[in-house]
Amino acid sequence: MTNSVYIHIPFCNNICSYCDFSKVYYNNDLVNKYLDSLLLEIKNNYQGEIINTLYIGGGSPSSLSIDNLNKLRNIIKIFKLSSDIEFTIEVNPDDITKDKLLFYKEIGVNRISIGVESTIDKYLKYLNRRHDFKLVQDKIKLIKDIGFSNISVDLIYGMKDETLHDLEKDLNNLLSLDINHISTYSLEIHDNTMLGINNDKRIDDDLDRKMYDYIVNYLEKNGFEHYEISNFAKNKTYSKHNLVYWNNLNYYGFGVGASGYIDNIRYQNTKSFNNYFLEKRIINKEILSNEDTISYALILGFRKIKGINKNDFYNRYHVDILSLYNIKDLIKEGLLIDDGEYLKINKEYLYVENSILENFV
Ligand SMILES: C[S@@+](CC[C@H](N)C(=O)[O-])C[C@H]1O[C@@H](n2cnc3c(N)ncnc32)[C@H](O)[C@@H]1O
Ligand code: SF4
Repeated sequence: MTNSVYIHIPFCNNICSYCDFSKVYYNNDLVNKYLDSLLLEIKNNYQGEIINTLYIGGGSPSSLSIDNLNKLRNIIKIFKLSSDIEFTIEVNPDDITKDKLLFYKEIGVNRISIGVESTIDKYLKYLNRRHDFKLVQDKIKLIKDIGFSNISVDLIYGMKDETLHDLEKDLNNLLSLDINHISTYSLEIHDNTMLGINNDKRIDDDLDRKMYDYIVNYLEKNGFEHYEISNFAKNKTYSKHNLVYWNNLNYYGFGVGASGYIDNIRYQNTKSFNNYFLEKRIINKEILSNEDTISYALILGFRKIKGINKNDFYNRYHVDILSLYNIKDLIKEGLLIDDGEYLKINKEYLYVENSILENFV
């Protein structure tokens, strides 16, 4: 059963210096053509299941005009949405207007994820963002006034020359927004972005680690639960959609560059608009063996701070998790912790989680 949907909207009004996601500049004709193809892809593939989580990501879905949104509404209508669906839309602070927010509300959106990235002008400039913190404050007030209460913000840290003092200022500012969810990302520099072309360097690994620890301590002290490597939530307002990924459950991925996981197949859509319009969508299909499925379950499941429930794992994959790979050794070495019910990564080693997960590939 596939009860989750990701829809990719690959358009932005401005291209940031660090971003290598699938996206192009907003263009009304291209958006209309794209929405027609999206409709076709969904009609041809959706099997009519009840949808519990729907995530419209990008790119910047907020770049769509009201006319475009009217078209998107007809696409959303195809899905049978559960009455307690989590329906998220990603927005860029620059784009959102009262009318767009009212439209989101009307089509059933109940969670807003907003790219704040930094609250300090010089870093916003470095990231080629067009907003300042004042605009973010105003837009979040508008989002709340319209009645959205489940709000997540993205923060990027580790920009060139950034100090722990700057990070503290960013975190303080985020807390002042009184939102319930925060995603934090250490800046990644990709070759095909402005930062990559300029040959910019990341901060050194020592400071990166200090920043990670600082974020975790700071947010935990201020009422946020660290529930996934990069994610923090107040009052258990976890991202249900992202938990579908981390719990290794099925989801449809629709749109250019989207990926999905249905039955035992993981697939990746083309990033080429031309091929997408020609319905040559899937560029990569991985048919999973039992071992592959288990490997994914471990790699994704250990991203959760709580870890993997051992009984659930046995019931789903019919194998004792402790018997897999070198898990017993990792427990002996203190990298993994078996608390009886859950098996999880020792918090001391979360920062080097990727090197632990390599054991399960
Ligand atoms: C699709 S964007 C969010 C919505 C909207 N497009 C925006 O930028 O406001 C997804 C998020 O991924 C993160 N991200 C993207 N590229 C990144 C990079 N190179 N390094 C770190 N974080 C990155 C940013 O925090 C960004 O907000
Ligand atoms: S970070 Fe967001 S707004 Fe910036 S280019 Fe990427 S998707 Fe577009």
